Amino acid sequence: MKLTIKDIRSKKNNKEKSTCLTAYDYPFAYLVDQSGIDIIIVGDSLANVVLGLESTKDVGIQEILYHTKAVSRAVTHALVIADMPFSAYQIEPDKALGNAKRLVEEGGCDAVKVEWFTQCLTVIKEIVNAGIPVMGHIGLTPQTADKLGGFKVQGKDAERATELLQQAKESEDAGCFSIVLECVPDKIASLITNKLSIPTIGIGAGPYCDGQVLVLHDILGLSKGFKPKFVMQYADVAAQVREAIIRYKNEVLSGSFPDKAHSFSISQEEFSKLKNSIPDEKETH
Ligand code: KIV
Repeated sequence: MKLTIKDIRSKKNNKEKSTCLTAYDYPFAYLVDQSGIDIIIVGDSLANVVLGLESTKDVGIQEILYHTKAVSRAVTHALVIADMPFSAYQIEPDKALGNAKRLVEEGGCDAVKVEWFTQCLTVIKEIVNAGIPVMGHIGLTPQTADKLGGFKVQGKDAERATELLQQAKESEDAGCFSIVLECVPDKIASLITNKLSIPTIGIGAGPYCDGQVLVLHDILGLSKGFKPKFVMQYADVAAQVREAIIRYKNEVLSGSFPDKAHSFSISQEEFSKLKNSIPDEKETH
C-alpha cells in the first residue's frame, strides 16, 4: 500500500527509522520501491549522477518533471518527492507555487523538497497552503553552496549551529512535514531531531536522525568522481555492467553470439519454396 505523509510522520512518534533513497528513472525507481524503501526523492543530484552536468543548478523544471513522471509510474509503495530545481523557486520565488503544482499534477509526485534560502519560508508557506506537502532541506544546501563557503560540513561552530536550529524550527513552523539535514555534525543533528516534531532525514548527519537518505548511484557504485565521507557503497554495479558489456562485445566479435538458442528458424519446406522462387538461388538437389 502507498505510504502517506501521515505514515512518515508517525514513524517518528513510533521511534521507527524512515528509509530514503534517490531515483531518477523507471527501472531503478521500481527496484527501490520493490525493496521497501519508504521515500524516493527525485533529487536534483540528477544533474551530476545521470545527466553528466557540473552543478545541481544546471537542471531545470523540465528535466525534474520528466524524471519525476518516470519515477511516479514505477512506484506503488514509497512516497515520491520531487526536488524543486534552483531556477524553479530561488530565482523568481513567485514562480515556486506554479512549478510545485506542475510537479504534483503532471509529475505525479506526493510532495516537493526545497532547500533553505533567504525567502524559503515564504515559499514553503505558499506551497503548503495550496495543499502540497513540503520537505525542507538545511545544512549543506548544494544549490547555494557558494554562499556557504563551498561543499563543507555546516554547524561546526556554535553560531552556525544555532542558525541551523533556528532554520529547522522555522521550517517546521512554516509547515514542512519533514526536513533533510545535510552534512552537519551528529550532535547537532541529534539536537535538531529532538527539538522537532517532524522527522529529520540525514545525509552526512550521523545516526541520530529519524531517517537516512543517500544518492542511489553512490550506494550502487555508479557515480563517478569525488566520493563524500558519508557515502557507503554497497555494491559495485559499474564493474558488473562493464563486464557484461565486454562479454557481449567479445561474443559478437567472435561470432558466438547470437547462437541457435537466440535465433529464429523457418521450416525447411518454406525455405526451399522461397529459394526455388529466386532464380539464382534455385536448389539443385
Ligand atoms: O538531490 C539530492 O540528491 C538531494 C538528496 C539530499 C536527497 O537533495
